[in-house]
Amino acid sequence: MPSVLLVSGSGLTVELDGRVEGIAELAEIVPFPTRAVVGHPHQLELLETQHGIVLYQRGRLHSYQGYSANQTVFVVRLAALLGASTLIMTNAAGGLSDTQHTGQLAVISDQINLSGLNPLRGALPPEWGPQFPDMVHAHDPDLRALALALATELGIELSSGVYAGVAGPSFETPAEVEMLRRLGADLVGMSTVLEVIAARHLGMRCLCFSLIANLAAGLGDFAVVDHEEVLQSGRAAAEKIARLLSSLLGRPELYGRRPRVRS
Ligand code: HPA
Repeated sequence: MPSVLLVSGSGLTVELDGRVEGIAELAEIVPFPTRAVVGHPHQLELLETQHGIVLYQRGRLHSYQGYSANQTVFVVRLAALLGASTLIMTNAAGGLSDTQHTGQLAVISDQINLSGLNPLRGALPPEWGPQFPDMVHAHDPDLRALALALATELGIELSSGVYAGVAGPSFETPAEVEMLRRLGADLVGMSTVLEVIAARHLGMRCLCFSLIANLAAGLGDFAVVDHEEVLQSGRAAAEKIARLLSSLLGRPELYGRRPRVRS
């Protein structure tokens, strides 16, 4: 039974040690039809580490692919109901601040859900969690401090920032980028916020990383953003991300078990 769910995003899938079984296609696991996006694998594997089992999802489902909020967070809920207590995610994001550069890694300190969606709408089993969950520590401060300390040890530059989750799939206009900056966001992307809401509802702790794949539209040298640029940045940063994740997965702090939900 997994203690940790690790979800890697757009072009950020890395090879990690400890695979227990073969790789399963996500399509074999989820009870609804899936659609592939160019450059995004959709696979699940189990890793056995020194301190416990990690369910590793390579490639996520995005609501812009047409999935409902509930479908988008399906694997998070599955992992939590199996007992996982920690959610680690990576994503590719646009950088919104002048001090950022492409290829930089950031740990998410907080989020702004601008997707217009919420996976807690409607009737959910009350034993999963409260209808109105607290979101003050949506992104866990202790896990974030651990990640920052490990990054320093490994010589990996890691900033931290607020992530704005938008619906996509069109990139932002320069006016939207300006709006997001004024709202207090440092990063913008099309994922992560729904999974964090679902995870917090189920009592999981969340630690999320953004790779700044591009500077958001209108900033820096690249006035225009394109999907290939985002994927290319991910490939270039893979080694750094793999080192940071491997180091994190070796830490006992990640492996508490969620109490089993009553059925
Ligand atoms: N905007 C939104 N999502 C993204 C971006 C961006 O600039 N880059 C990668 N994902």
